[in-house]
Amino acid sequence: MRIELQLSHKLVPIQIKEGLFAEIYKWIPKVYTGKKIFLLCDENLDSLYAKSLEMQLKEHGYRVSKMVILAGESVKNLSMMEEIYSELLRHEFTRSDLMLLLGGGVVGDLGGFVAATYLRGIRYIQLPTTLLSQVDSSIGGKVAVNLKEGKNLAGSFYHPEAIWMDPLLLKTLPPKEFRSGMGEVIKYGCIGDEKLFGLVEQYYLEGVHDESLLKEIIGRSVVQKVNVVAADEKEGGQRKLLNFGHTLGHAIEKTLGYGQISHGEAVAIGMSHFTRISQKLGQTSGQSVERLNRLLDVVGLPHEIPIGLKKEALLEAIFHDKKMSGNSISIILLKKIGHAFIKEIYRDDIEKYLE
Ligand SMILES: NC(=O)c1ccc[n+]([C@@H]2O[C@H](COP(=O)([O-])OP(=O)(O)OC[C@H]3O[C@@H](n4cnc5c(N)ncnc54)[C@H](O)[C@@H]3O)[C@@H](O)[C@H]2O)c1
Repeated sequence: MRIELQLSHKLVPIQIKEGLFAEIYKWIPKVYTGKKIFLLCDENLDSLYAKSLEMQLKEHGYRVSKMVILAGESVKNLSMMEEIYSELLRHEFTRSDLMLLLGGGVVGDLGGFVAATYLRGIRYIQLPTTLLSQVDSSIGGKVAVNLKEGKNLAGSFYHPEAIWMDPLLLKTLPPKEFRSGMGEVIKYGCIGDEKLFGLVEQYYLEGVHDESLLKEIIGRSVVQKVNVVAADEKEGGQRKLLNFGHTLGHAIEKTLGYGQISHGEAVAIGMSHFTRISQKLGQTSGQSVERLNRLLDVVGLPHEIPIGLKKEALLEAIFHDKKMSGNSISIILLKKIGHAFIKEIYRDDIEKYLE
């Protein structure tokens, strides 16, 4: 399945194909005619996939320098960027060479920001290996690292030459990570694709865990993300829809402490609560709330705010978020499953409606 992200300045081809990973050497010449490649991955991906990818590429005449970093959010920072720059310089990478980013959102965000800034920009390809990175983080050109003050505070918009995903790689993904990505998929269903929501229901409720269904779920999610990004490259208007569930989700992650709850779990709670707020505002029916909560239950994602988290602390986190403007905030509400809209809402209203 090929999907194109048409931007004002370039076209990013996205390929979703089982078995693609075993044939990366065939795909590279479509976007890069050089031979020098910098392969970045984390320690978990190294033994699972990067070693064989390195071998595959070398067998086909590529000169590969591989760098393996620790797994997890803690490496997504400026000092790791410096280490990667040093490694690129040590191997004399120039602007005409290529970076391959094999991994989840951490490798993609960190490596992408290095690519955006090394020698003022080097080309790169995203090879996303988690469900979250396949349906979300690898698409849209948002690359960033965390600062001690918060997540993703230093970054850029810098798109890859191509995004290639192989759903078969998800077989080794820990279930918790799979669920986390499914949270984003459900979000896409909620904001603009009821059929996609239905496919996820089928995947879980009917016990149809088949691979072609998963590929379709990934494909439809990618289309959703591509449509929103193409319509709004720099997140001014429509792209805000992608924040459905995230305003509260981020606040929960921040208040609990990063790493205490997965991103997908936090977003799931956010989606459920903002659907309930939509209902209280008379915008959606109780059926939407029930349908969403039922699916979250089956997937194994939470929908209630963890006990002990104070409403005041959450509101504080929401209104200190970088996207806030004054005493009101843009939130995403649901009309029905498959149709979301943006609404400016005052702090008092969130306080009143948040359970
Ligand atoms: N750029 C964006 O638009 C955007 C959007 C959403 C999230 N993000 C960022 O994405 C990051 C989270 O990404 P993530 O959830 O992919 O986490 P991650 O990159 O930390 O990967 C999760 C874990 O799964 C392991 N893993 C990855 N692929 C695997 C596979 N196929 N088999 C077995 N193990 C595998 C990794 O080693 C890691 O331990 C966060 O930093 C978040 O800020 C960015």
